[in-house]
Amino acid sequence: MEQQPKTNKTPHVLLFPLPAQGHINPIIQFAKRLLSKGVKTTLVTTIYIFNINFPNKNNTTSIEIEAISDGFDKGGYTSADSPESYLDTFKEVGSKSLADLIKKIQSEGNNIDALIYDSFVIWALDVAKEFGIDSGAFFTQACGVNNIYYHVHKGLISLPPDGPVSVPGLPPVEPWETPSFVHDIGPYPGWSHTVFNQFANIDQARWVFTNSFYLLEKEVIEWMRKTWNLKVIGPTLPSMYLDKRLEDDKDYGINLFEANHTECMNWLNDKPKKSVVYVAFGSAAELQPEEMEEITRGLIDSDVNFLWVVRAQEESKLPKDVIDVIKIGKGLVVAWCRQMDVLAHESIGCFVTHCGFNSTLEAICLGIPVMAMPQWTDQITNAKLLEEIWGVGVRVKADEKGIVRRGNLASCIKKIMKDKTGVVIQNNAAKWSELAKLAVDKGGSSDKDIDEFIYELKHTMTHKRDV
Ligand code: UDX
Repeated sequence: MEQQPKTNKTPHVLLFPLPAQGHINPIIQFAKRLLSKGVKTTLVTTIYIFNINFPNKNNTTSIEIEAISDGFDKGGYTSADSPESYLDTFKEVGSKSLADLIKKIQSEGNNIDALIYDSFVIWALDVAKEFGIDSGAFFTQACGVNNIYYHVHKGLISLPPDGPVSVPGLPPVEPWETPSFVHDIGPYPGWSHTVFNQFANIDQARWVFTNSFYLLEKEVIEWMRKTWNLKVIGPTLPSMYLDKRLEDDKDYGINLFEANHTECMNWLNDKPKKSVVYVAFGSAAELQPEEMEEITRGLIDSDVNFLWVVRAQEESKLPKDVIDVIKIGKGLVVAWCRQMDVLAHESIGCFVTHCGFNSTLEAICLGIPVMAMPQWTDQITNAKLLEEIWGVGVRVKADEKGIVRRGNLASCIKKIMKDKTGVVIQNNAAKWSELAKLAVDKGGSSDKDIDEFIYELKHTMTHKRDV
């Protein structure tokens, strides 16, 4: 990398994630990386999320945070009548309040040199354009998944696909392995429109960022680089779990739910090494009561220790017999935990996950074998990648109703915790974990891409000053 251009102003970047846990986490971490390299960063979130995290208005993270309205200041996403009504209102109210925020920042004499927006929120690019600010689309999901969406957007994949889907950088993807919005069109029109539409104005974005790392998705990345000014900057876990270069960076910093941290750690501390199955389905998945029943029975039949995250909204679906297991100390159910701390605990032997892309990367980086139990959206394709490409997990089969039965769950747990398959998976997981660390460490592929972005940003700033 050439020396960074000299500017008399500190570059300032606004980062604007979709206000959802799985989207805030990667973007806030990218902001911290930029900050550590001398770029001023401001994360833009919603009033609702700001208020639940910082009730006393004291931002406790290392980066600056500004709040704008998404039209749901009191209750956030879940208070909207439907995803469609949320997304429409967010666009209408959000574009105006984002513009107002930019005006306010500029009127206070501060420069804004780029707006990095979540690729789900494409209207932010128009707001940036209004002010002559350069923009970058940030993709929070796997490049492989995005490549499928890109081909749908271009009309090159039919909805639903009538045979295996072929896109550069991926092996053939069976129709049932594509993201749910591709093979099961209909139930979530707002979200399917959002994922396909990520590419509608992408050619106007100066940069395209993605939360992945070069060796993890090399072929797709090479292909994407031919079209866009791509910066591959992940994995975006807190630095403590990777290169440890960012001081005190142990946590993402913004949470939509409150974690039962002490309870989890005390309980895990008592358990033997690699004896606990950690079960979590992220921040949004909703399971059927029958599915919860099968998971409970599968865990009990496996006779393992388990820590299960069941969000408050899902709690009423828990079957009664789980209480008996909790009483004898073999199980713990919490409403939310600090997932990074849990995955890093030596007692964890297996992660039963919905395969959200953050959980996917977290499992890879911490070298934890995965039992993949995807629910919807990109998770189904991530499960394929985890099992077939990266070799760090086993996909558990669901029946024709889409429910994973207790027997299948128990036999997958056994495979991972007790059989030879588990050893192979462990070795692969350890390898990926090492590669992930190298990518973000000094001089690694992601570190270089971040430096390159900063170079381009500063280069424009010096150029603008000269003209
Ligand atoms: C959503 C989508 O569902 C997912 O498919 C997409 O890839 C990203 O956006 P979500 O379902 O919440 O995300 O899953 P995931 O991507 O795994 O993100 C969840 C985040 O919450 C992770 O960073 C995880 O560490 C954190 N988490 C989860 C906790 O901190 N505590 C918990 O108890 C559970």
